[in-house]
Amino acid sequence: MIQTKELIYEYEKRDEEGNIIGMKRAIDGVDIDIPEGSFVAILGHNGSGKSTLAKHMNAILVPSGGTMWVNGRDTKDPENLWDVRQSAGVSQVFPKQAFRRTETASCHCGRDRYGTKVYCFR
Ligand SMILES: Nc1ncnc2c1ncn2[C@@H]1O[C@H](COP(=O)(O)OP(=O)(O)OP(=O)(O)O)[C@@H](O)[C@H]1O
Ligand SMILES: [Mg+2]
Repeated sequence: MIQTKELIYEYEKRDEEGNIIGMKRAIDGVDIDIPEGSFVAILGHNGSGKSTLAKHMNAILVPSGGTMWVNGRDTKDPENLWDVRQSAGVSQVFPKQAFRRTETASCHCGRDRYGTKVYCFR
């Protein structure tokens, strides 16, 4: 189960010396509610924020604003990190692997080893 409420994420823009020179809003007030057992595809143009959203599902990124819950657990609470990552996995799709292993096989690998229930691919 994945839910968001008014989810916002902003990347910091930095100059060559590392000073913050601005913000780039990649997710702007998104509400989603994905019930257990669903199979959902998130589609969008390049740069529309799909990967940024996926990175929130196992707390690689935490919201700049709003909230994301995985199985009812708020991903920005550090105490939930273990449970969130037990529930949600992110599978990278590298061109070399794409022909060796199907997405379904990657998913089963996560389930068998870690009992992971939610999977996102990017
Ligand atoms: N590390 C980063 N620093 C700054 N801006 C970023 C960073 N990563 C992504 N962005 C910007 O955030 C926005 C959303 O990017 P994101 O990668 O989430 O889109 P996407 O839908 O996954 O794109 P694609 O279809 O190309 O994979 C884009 O404008 C992108 O340039
Ligand atoms: Mg992407």
